[in-house]
Parts: sequence; C-alpha cells; structure tokens
Amino acid sequence: MIELKSERDREKMRRAGRVVAEVLEILKTSVHPGMQTRELDVIAEREIRARGGTPVFKGYQGYPASVCVSVNQQVVHGIPGSLTLKAQDLVSLDLGATVEGFVGDAALSLFLEGAPSARAAELLEVTEAALWAGIKAAKVGAHLGDVSAAVQNTIESHKFSVVRDFVGHGVGRAMHEEPQVPNYGTAGRGILLRAGLAIAIEPMVNLGGFEVEVLDDEWTVVTRDGSLSCHFEHTIFLDENGPEVLTQLR
Ligand code: MF3
Ligand code: CO
Repeated sequence: MIELKSERDREKMRRAGRVVAEVLEILKTSVHPGMQTRELDVIAEREIRARGGTPVFKGYQGYPASVCVSVNQQVVHGIPGSLTLKAQDLVSLDLGATVEGFVGDAALSLFLEGAPSARAAELLEVTEAALWAGIKAAKVGAHLGDVSAAVQNTIESHKFSVVRDFVGHGVGRAMHEEPQVPNYGTAGRGILLRAGLAIAIEPMVNLGGFEVEVLDDEWTVVTRDGSLSCHFEHTIFLDENGPEVLTQLR
C-alpha cells in the first residue's frame, strides 16, 4: 500500500529534509584526504542530533553507523571505519534522519581534490543529471516508469551503467516505503503519481558494468569489475505544483 502524505506530514518532512541537507553540507565541507571515514560518522551523528533529529540508518537492520561512506568502486552502504581517504577518491555520502516522526534521505558524491580522469568527472556529472532528470519527470499524472526511464536514459546515453540490485523508494514515517523506484524502466508503465506521494530517487551509476556484489561485512556494495561508482539521492514530495525537493538547502 502506498501511503499518501497530508500537508501536516509534508511540513514535518520538510524539517527532516532540511536537517539532512544541512548535515550533508557540513560533511561535504569536512571531508578531506588523510581523514578516516569514521570521522565523518562522528560528525554526522553529532550534527543530526544537534538539530533534534535521530540518525535513521543507525541500527537499521543492524547497520552500525549514521552515514554511509562509499569510496571509489564502492557503490553504496560503505560502513565508515579505518579507511583513510586520499586525493582523487570518489566519495559518496548517504545520510538519513528522522525528525518529528518523518524521514529525510539524501546522498551526494564528490571527488577529493579533483577527478582522476575526464571520464570519471563525467560519471559524477551524469549521475547528478540523472537524478535531476528523474525529479523533473516526477509529476502528478505521470507514471513511475517515466521517472525510471528518465534516469536510465540519462545514464545510458552517456554509456554508463545503471545498478539494478538497489533502487529508490517511497519515504515517510519509515525510510523504506512503497513504491520501489528503480533507476531503469519504461515510460508510461508503473503506478500513476499522485499528490502527496513522497519518494527518494537515488541513481547508482557504474563507469563499467552494472553488476555489483556485497562484501563480507554484509553491507558494502562494490562493482564486480572494480570500476568507479557514483550515487546521488534526494527525497521529493509531489503535488500539482510539481516536485518539491525536500533535501535541498533553500
Ligand atoms: N539511502 C539508503 C537507502 O535508501 C541508505 C540506507 S543505509 C542503511 O537504502 F544502512 F540504513 F540501510
Ligand atoms: Co534511500
């Protein structure tokens, strides 16, 4: 069942989204070569709580941290720890917070001190563009497949690969609600998008093949071919005026 949100719910989701956006911005300015990824988790948890939020990832199905830090060939769900970041690493930061009973969920990627190649830089540009193509396609009266197809077409027209094993999702009182929001699909198919729908769109894009595997820590997802992977995510809310991006600083 897909739960549509009220205007009161939406106000709470705005607050959750703002906390996520603010803390992601802090992480973005804090991350640097020479630091261990666990330092980002300390900042993430402290800054979420300082804003009256609760880290939603921590304890979720046993996940041990407040932020996912996925580096280079890591796709998503990297656990912050002893890994030391270096120049030209591609770092994905994925953050979720609950505020007043509602969840915000967002991710961004960046290169530390520049990309290692033009193609790597293009991977990041195209992944972010794919997210925004999906957001633009998310209109009341459109189909969910329109969103998926917009994301997929952006990625594949640049000869990058869409990860299939992980998808975006409905979001609200829980981090993961119906519907699933795949980053691949067919325009005109899938459910009709209605006012009050809140979803997280999150393209995961590989420079090489689409195949991924999970490491022995049971969380970290990596590309099978060892190629770079990139990830962006926003939580959005739909009504007749179009998509409202809740996890963006405004
Ligand atoms: N944005 C991710 C997702 O929607 C983050 C979840 S990490 C987890 O699945 F550890 F909480 F699972
Ligand atoms: Co998500």
